[in-house]
Amino acid sequence: MKIKLIDKKLKDIKSDLEIVFVVNKNLKHKFVQDLKLFGDLNFKGKDEEVLFLPEKKIIYIGVENLEHENLRVASALVIRHVLKLKIKQVKIGLYFEKKSEEGIKALVEGFLLGAYSFQKYKSKVEKQNLKEIFISSENYKVPRGYENKKIDIKNLKKVLDESVVISENVNFVRDIVNEAPSDLTPLEFSRIAKAEAKKNNLQIKVYGEKELKKLGMNAFLAVNRASTYPPQLIHLSYKPKNAKKKIVLVGKGLTYDTGGLSLKLGEGMLTMKMDMGGAGAVLGTILAVSQLKLNLEVHAILGVTENAIGQDAYKPDDILKAMNGKTIEVRNTDAEGRLVLADCLVYVQKEKPDYILDLATLTGASLVALGEYTSAVMGYDQKLNESIIKASFKSGEFMDVLPFNKYLAKLLKSEIADISNISSSKYGGAITAGIFLGEFIEDKNRNKWIHIDIAGPAYKEKVWGENPHGASGAGVRTIVEWLRTLS
Ligand code: BES
Ligand code: ZN
Ligand code: ZN
Repeated sequence: MKIKLIDKKLKDIKSDLEIVFVVNKNLKHKFVQDLKLFGDLNFKGKDEEVLFLPEKKIIYIGVENLEHENLRVASALVIRHVLKLKIKQVKIGLYFEKKSEEGIKALVEGFLLGAYSFQKYKSKVEKQNLKEIFISSENYKVPRGYENKKIDIKNLKKVLDESVVISENVNFVRDIVNEAPSDLTPLEFSRIAKAEAKKNNLQIKVYGEKELKKLGMNAFLAVNRASTYPPQLIHLSYKPKNAKKKIVLVGKGLTYDTGGLSLKLGEGMLTMKMDMGGAGAVLGTILAVSQLKLNLEVHAILGVTENAIGQDAYKPDDILKAMNGKTIEVRNTDAEGRLVLADCLVYVQKEKPDYILDLATLTGASLVALGEYTSAVMGYDQKLNESIIKASFKSGEFMDVLPFNKYLAKLLKSEIADISNISSSKYGGAITAGIFLGEFIEDKNRNKWIHIDIAGPAYKEKVWGENPHGASGAGVRTIVEWLRTLS
């Protein structure tokens, strides 16, 4: 499916179908021709309302307003309708009230993210008939303040291309997160990472069990012990000349989380193939960064293993020594992500980064705190936290801050080791998990670090907005947006 921006009036572009957004409060805008029909057919242009007029080759869709987040969702909804119609080409005008860049980005992302479906395991693959989407440079109304400005087509084309890159990488992450856990093993994950690194000219190093032992990553290794697959620490780097900043991204890559000996119950275990969603997002992000040629040095560290059960499983009551020498009392083997991440975070700090970001499907408690669609952002620097939230607004993802405090920190005290891997309280579990990770960040890096818990939005067994049933690729859009503010 190709999306093209065409510098012609909408009526001068030939296609099989025209998409028209109708803002419900304002049924009089210039793309709308069928006001009388709307009355007859009781179409009010309410949010998510669709009216398809086959003879006229028009599909109308209601949208509450033209803010980018609503445009994105409406584009996703309408494209899902269009895909069912066996149509090859559609056209649409430009919709924006404030910034043309925001409008076209929302349309492109809505179309490409909304059209995604995962079909790898279906014996009959549904063919996509839609080949081309034409976006006309004709805007539905010229925003105030823009009356005398000519639309900068070259700039809009650039935004379009960038939005395609971002969407394709989000879809790539969805593909790998959706794979069955016995197919996407740690070795398969590193094979995919190597292939992508080669395609995109990235450096890559993969450490196996022997190297992790040598590095002293005993927390990471303990989680891996009962798995039949070896652990993989995957380190990709993108190093352009004249990089302005150095950023390291760390991702939790549990290809399956059974809970270990603190075994999950059936329902809680289901969907735990998504527990590599953080590593997937980090991989998708570095690919997008290199394709967008951002002026930043970026490292992606993926801690990949499986949390299995077996004779050799690590146990509740075990004491582990992490790479920085800190000892951890294991009180629950299902709090495994933080053990893997602890060693990965210690490892990346030798890069002397300007910023450290980790992404992880870390806690069920983050869903309790913020609901299932919002990622939880944590860190010691309020301004840095806020910069991530701002980027999430612009990208169309939901993120919000969960605040640390010293009383929650005390709940991680262990009587026999330096720290316990779970809190002694049942409240605030997303935050105490974040505080645990922070204990593996050196003092001098405290204000450079951000933790993002994507456990909620990473995977849903239902369609929501521009996201499909299954993996959403959560995190990629926000982090890419945030990185762009640094470059
Ligand atoms: N991978 C899970 C967290 C998770 C839960 C992700 C639901 C997505 C949806 C993590 O490893 C885990 O099991 N966390 C425990 C921590 C507890 C033992 C302190 C949890 O959230 O219950
Ligand atoms: Zn777990
Ligand atoms: Zn987990």
